[in-house]
Amino acid sequence: MLSEEQNRALTEVGAGTPMGELLRRYWMPIAAVAELDDHPTKPVRLLGEDLVLFKDQAGTYGLVDRHCPHRRADLSYGWVESCGLRCHYHGWLWDHTGRCLQQPFEETAHPDARFKDRVRIKAYAVEAKAGLLWAYLGPPPAPLVPTWEPFTWQNGFVQIVFSEVPCNWFQCQENSIDPVHFEWLHANWSRAMSRIDGDRSPMHLKIGFEEFEHGFIYRRVLEGQSEQDELWTIGRCCLWPNCLFTGGHFEWRVPIDDSNMLSVGWFFDRVPNDMEPFKQDRIPYWVSPIKDALTDRWITSHVMNQDFVAWVGQGTVADRTQEHLGESDRGVIMMRKRILEDAERVARGTEPKGIIRDSEKNRCIRLPIIGRDFFVNGSSRVESETSRQRTPGLLLRKEFPFLTGQPEEVRAAYRRAMGLPEHGVDARSPAG
Ligand code: FES
Ligand SMILES: [Fe+2]
Repeated sequence: MLSEEQNRALTEVGAGTPMGELLRRYWMPIAAVAELDDHPTKPVRLLGEDLVLFKDQAGTYGLVDRHCPHRRADLSYGWVESCGLRCHYHGWLWDHTGRCLQQPFEETAHPDARFKDRVRIKAYAVEAKAGLLWAYLGPPPAPLVPTWEPFTWQNGFVQIVFSEVPCNWFQCQENSIDPVHFEWLHANWSRAMSRIDGDRSPMHLKIGFEEFEHGFIYRRVLEGQSEQDELWTIGRCCLWPNCLFTGGHFEWRVPIDDSNMLSVGWFFDRVPNDMEPFKQDRIPYWVSPIKDALTDRWITSHVMNQDFVAWVGQGTVADRTQEHLGESDRGVIMMRKRILEDAERVARGTEPKGIIRDSEKNRCIRLPIIGRDFFVNGSSRVESETSRQRTPGLLLRKEFPFLTGQPEEVRAAYRRAMGLPEHGVDARSPAG
């Protein structure tokens, strides 16, 4: 059980708070590259700050204050030009570094005053990687955007899915180190909702946790498996500071503010060998709804939607003064302790965990990956449908199991990439 003060320390993300300052040391995914190609400006709220993301006509990305420093108009209604973003109210033009490039009437009225040199807009760094746009809100020098190993893989169908979840980010990240929930929240709850009688899903017999450079590894032995299985020998990964990595996909829990979280999913599906070479011109993105408009209840049909139901159910900010933690929460306890220590390190001026500054090392950052050989080398279609029963998540999926609402064009593109017929039956193979 935590004190109220500890609970606040874990959950508040504004500038100047211990956790807010820690999180500002890491790059956060905030949009898809394809999203800005579709529309060059996007309002963004990140770590309690209202901002506008833009891509100007030269292809330069910028992330600036939502409000124009002149008289505070909302710059997400501005338009991009060959260099920078122009305010729709009086036409002041801002570049991605925060400089004011033009103030049309001021320059006409007082050509020599150079007022524009004395005003700046708050501006943050943006970088594109793996089909995502990443933002860095911390002090210079910015570290490198991690090149996680799956970002270097070939012959995969990648899709990016966003969902806005109305609760604090940290209870979502606690789920990244909670192996036992999988058995109940996903396997057994799904069975209960489908009214499947009979045996429950295999029970967890043993769980293990271990810290490594980029987070924690969690391991499990399920009924019918042993310590020789990859779920124990390799495990899955609670990636520092706000991500779950299961091997085939990442789920970032990006803090919008203290009460809202942007879930950013990046999913890699290896195409069968007979569909190689496969290359995507554009990584598709979509937004998954989380509430059923008809019933006004949370959607419970897909794996991550089930997670969302658990998280919002804990309250906007989970009250950790009222918990009763047990053996299944050992990883959660380790992570809380470690992240609070990390926040203290930042407060003392020390670098926190897992920051990457070595570009040689960042060519490809290896992570624990169950079934790496399959992701890298692929296999024939028949094999991938039958041989991976013991390492969930590696089947050739006929339907997307993680989030509801996949647009038809993304589904069709996936099925083409996999060499699947246009219509087929649902075969779920979640990973968690
Ligand atoms: S408020 Fe933006 S130019 Fe006036
Ligand atoms: Fe889950």
